[in-house]
Amino acid sequence: MGQVSGKVALVTGGGSGIGRATALTLGREGASVMVTDLNEATAAAAAAEICAAGGKAQSMAQDTTSEDRWQEVIAATEAAFGKLDVLVNNAGIAIAGPIETFSLDDWRKQHAINVEGVFLGVKHAFPAMRRAGGGSIINLSSVAGLKGNNSGLASYSASKGAVRLFTKCAALEGATAKIRVNSVHPGIIETPIWNAILPPGEARRNASDLNQRATAVVPTGVLGKPQDIANGILFLASDQSSYMTGSELVIDAGMTAR
Ligand SMILES: NC(=O)c1ccc[n+]([C@@H]2O[C@H](COP(=O)([O-])OP(=O)(O)OC[C@H]3O[C@@H](n4cnc5c(N)ncnc54)[C@H](O)[C@@H]3O)[C@@H](O)[C@H]2O)c1
Repeated sequence: MGQVSGKVALVTGGGSGIGRATALTLGREGASVMVTDLNEATAAAAAAEICAAGGKAQSMAQDTTSEDRWQEVIAATEAAFGKLDVLVNNAGIAIAGPIETFSLDDWRKQHAINVEGVFLGVKHAFPAMRRAGGGSIINLSSVAGLKGNNSGLASYSASKGAVRLFTKCAALEGATAKIRVNSVHPGIIETPIWNAILPPGEARRNASDLNQRATAVVPTGVLGKPQDIANGILFLASDQSSYMTGSELVIDAGMTAR
């Protein structure tokens, strides 16, 4: 019996990195998974992998900044699997650059995906989870949402800080409806997002560049893997965490302990 057997989960940005590892993990642990991503092909590939392993999954293209699409995706999830128990608001982007030269367009794009996308997900998951008798929402923040010492990541940090506090407000609004809402704060995890984060002069040429960064800022010196975060998300999705809401799960190998 899997840790989330019988549950229905929706994972955004499920075609890559942390979202992909999360979708596969929830599928392996018994959930029926709706995998969505801006990139339809990668979402379909993740869903196919869950099914090939004997699980249940479907996929849809989704831009999390579209309110209409959120309604369609949640309706399709309920139609396919009967309910919605778990939402992982994972889709996110990182745009780096110093404040003085950062464009307003990039600031708005960053916040549209990282903050508005999360707001829309919570807004439209709430009614579905009320119908299901409760649920668990996991919002991807970051260590950058906890501290300011992330060079060149002011806009990203602001967006992730917003996710952190929005999560707590949502937890309070959902409390009596048995809807739990928690945030996850990964440290440095090896995914394609770093191709965009590392400034041009520091462009990632291979995995060793990211390893060097990890050696410099992570107390253990170890770069995280998407599975390290998926394991925490699985716990928050499962009934093992039923007394947790409004919490911050930091998975950073000690980065923020400094
Ligand atoms: N990798 C890290 O070190 C790290 C650290 C802290 C937090 N995070 C957060 O974890 C989450 C996942 O990041 P990742 O590292 O796996 O990145 P990733 O780039 O590997 O995956 C992100 C996925 O989101 C999708 N996406 C982007 N914009 C979208 C949109 N508008 N609608 C739907 N999907 C969209 C992309 O297509 C991609 O598949 C993000 O919210 C990120 O900010 C990552």
